[in-house]
Amino acid sequence: MAELRSWCFILAVFAASLYGISAEIKFTTPVGRLFTYEVMREKFQNDFETSSKLYTGVLHDDPMVFKCKKQGFPDLPEWLRFIQRHPFDNGFLYGTPMSPGKYFIEIYAINKISYDAARELLVIKVVSEKMLPYQAEFFIQLREVEKVLPSSVQIEIKQDLQKLWNNEALEMINISNALDRGGRVPLPLAGHYEGVYVKVGSKKYFSKCLQRVMSPEYQRECATEAKVKIPGECTFCKIPSNCITWCKTELFDLTKLEPEPPAPTMGSGILEDGGYFDPPESPPSRDYFPDYMVTVIVPLIIAIVLFLLLLSIMYGRREGLAKRNAKTNNIQLYHHQTIHGNTEELRSMASQRGVPAPLSTLPMFNSRTGERASPLQSDSIPLIMAQQEPYSDTLPRK
Ligand SMILES: *[C@@H]1O[C@H](CO)[C@@H](O)[C@H](O)[C@H]1NC(C)=O
Repeated sequence: MAELRSWCFILAVFAASLYGISAEIKFTTPVGRLFTYEVMREKFQNDFETSSKLYTGVLHDDPMVFKCKKQGFPDLPEWLRFIQRHPFDNGFLYGTPMSPGKYFIEIYAINKISYDAARELLVIKVVSEKMLPYQAEFFIQLREVEKVLPSSVQIEIKQDLQKLWNNEALEMINISNALDRGGRVPLPLAGHYEGVYVKVGSKKYFSKCLQRVMSPEYQRECATEAKVKIPGECTFCKIPSNCITWCKTELFDLTKLEPEPPAPTMGSGILEDGGYFDPPESPPSRDYFPDYMVTVIVPLIIAIVLFLLLLSIMYGRREGLAKRNAKTNNIQLYHHQTIHGNTEELRSMASQRGVPAPLSTLPMFNSRTGERASPLQSDSIPLIMAQQEPYSDTLPRK
């Protein structure tokens, strides 16, 4: 059976696990078929306990996380995916290789309580195999990918599909999470699942039930999102969670595919000799006059026109202002004349007063003593005698 063939593995380095360092597990799987490997927590727990000095003989159940990568590379090969939902769950490596080769996959387990780490090496040898010509993909809505990957569930699903296809010789081609194909993350509530796509293939053509998918009547029903009528003889799901969504079923007939175009032939990498470089003639001279007109003359004319317009507005406005100014000037002139007349009048009135002028206004009045020198005497005293010479050696008299 194909199942056995793909699961046939050589437990060559079982002895290595006795040393507790690293185990090497070998698998052989054909191209274009689903590969699954369950990363068992129990096995790593065993490694952790035996390497620990305080081993009591009782196996704990520690939370664990796994890191998987291609040996010497930071990530897994493109076709291989890994899922572990929770540190208390087992992990799964799964995927469909599309070309033969040998893959070395490292699995690191980290114990989330003791932070011990253990390593396992997986050697996957992919051997070439003919593609299955008839393939069909089904959507299982009420499932999550890690719940479908255990082989017991895979067998259950395959049994339903075998009846639907009316064919025993079915092979699993792909199982993938709907989230990887544009699906939406479901609400975190009971009864909401991510959904899983399951692809199977066979050498035998599709059954009557499957051929309904290709009928225009079925496509019309699905387009209107109405309840699709499935005849009773075409519904096979023993377990409700394994039931397929009919409208998301897709059939692939690889025999009708056109052969791929041949790969492009590689050249030597050296270009052919193309002779000497011949520079082009210098371009014809350009006439810049229209440009000059547009960029200089036209704006200049507009500026002149605006200038003249402004000038005429200014002239008209000044005329009006001048008239008003003349009026105010007359009023100011009248005021000036009256002020002048009043001042004259005040002056003549002041000169007629008979009161003597205040003492402080008289010449030679001493403000400290109140002494008053006669204007005649004061005339005879030279002003220089009353002052101390600024640069004399003698002390000033007190
Ligand atoms: C399997 O499914 C994944 C995810 O949708 C896709 O990337 C991959 O190409 C599929 N492989 C095959 C062989 O169909």
